[in-house]
Amino acid sequence: MLEVEGLHAHYGRAHILQGVTLSAAQGEVVALLGRNGAGKSTTMKAIMGLVRPTGGRVRFQGQDVTGREPFEIARQGLGYVPEERRIFTELTVMENLDVGRQPPRAGLAPWTPERVFALFPSLGAMRARPGGRMSGGEQQMLTIARTLMGNPRLILLDEPSEGLAPVIVERMAAAILELKREGITVLLSEQNLHFARLVSDRACVLEKGAIRWEGTLAALMEAEEVRAQYLSV
Ligand SMILES: Nc1ncnc2c1ncn2[C@@H]1O[C@H](COP(=O)(O)OP(=O)(O)OP(=O)(O)O)[C@@H](O)[C@H]1O
Ligand SMILES: [Mg+2]
Repeated sequence: MLEVEGLHAHYGRAHILQGVTLSAAQGEVVALLGRNGAGKSTTMKAIMGLVRPTGGRVRFQGQDVTGREPFEIARQGLGYVPEERRIFTELTVMENLDVGRQPPRAGLAPWTPERVFALFPSLGAMRARPGGRMSGGEQQMLTIARTLMGNPRLILLDEPSEGLAPVIVERMAAAILELKREGITVLLSEQNLHFARLVSDRACVLEKGAIRWEGTLAALMEAEEVRAQYLSV
């Protein structure tokens, strides 16, 4: 579904991504782990075309999308939920969902407001509420819900559990597992290893703009030295 090969990216002269290589198969949930500043968000932005890659390749469903415009990449079925949630604060929950609508995709059941409310019941209880009058966690769910309305085949989630209360974290994990059951591929970035373990098939550990370790979450839990070197604070 997604193949990233030797991806490089710069901010001005700062060489941030130094050859990131990772992949995700259809229906797989892959966690991109790493400390603050490791390059998780930059990797997602470079995949999405929001940061122009300065080297390497991004292939999505076998097609080379490296350096394409974000809207073109989105239209091909790649959804992106940035770290800084961007909902329309003046628009209601329903209107926010409408903004995200895109045509259905072959082989995937199309998303409707009713289906996203089944995934995030608390949103269904506040359909007419303006986004600006929702809590941070509710806004987080709304950005994911709106992205789903675009019927993505793959969704990039930048730190989906960040700032959520424990009970909401569990709801979020259940929602991601439900997406997986639907055949949607998920690449998520996380600092929360507990959350990553709840949902991910595989982990890629990023440090200083390159993948330093890759394997199952079970293997990562065994690899104490890897966690100590790249993950713990
Ligand atoms: N717009 C920018 N301009 C210049 N440098 C940036 C910019 N955005 C990020 N950086 C730098 O690039 C590096 C990687 O940042 P990035 O946001 O990708 O890290 P991250 O792994 O997502 O971290 P976090 O866990 O804090 O979100 C950091 O050193 C950061 O300071
Ligand atoms: Mg980040």
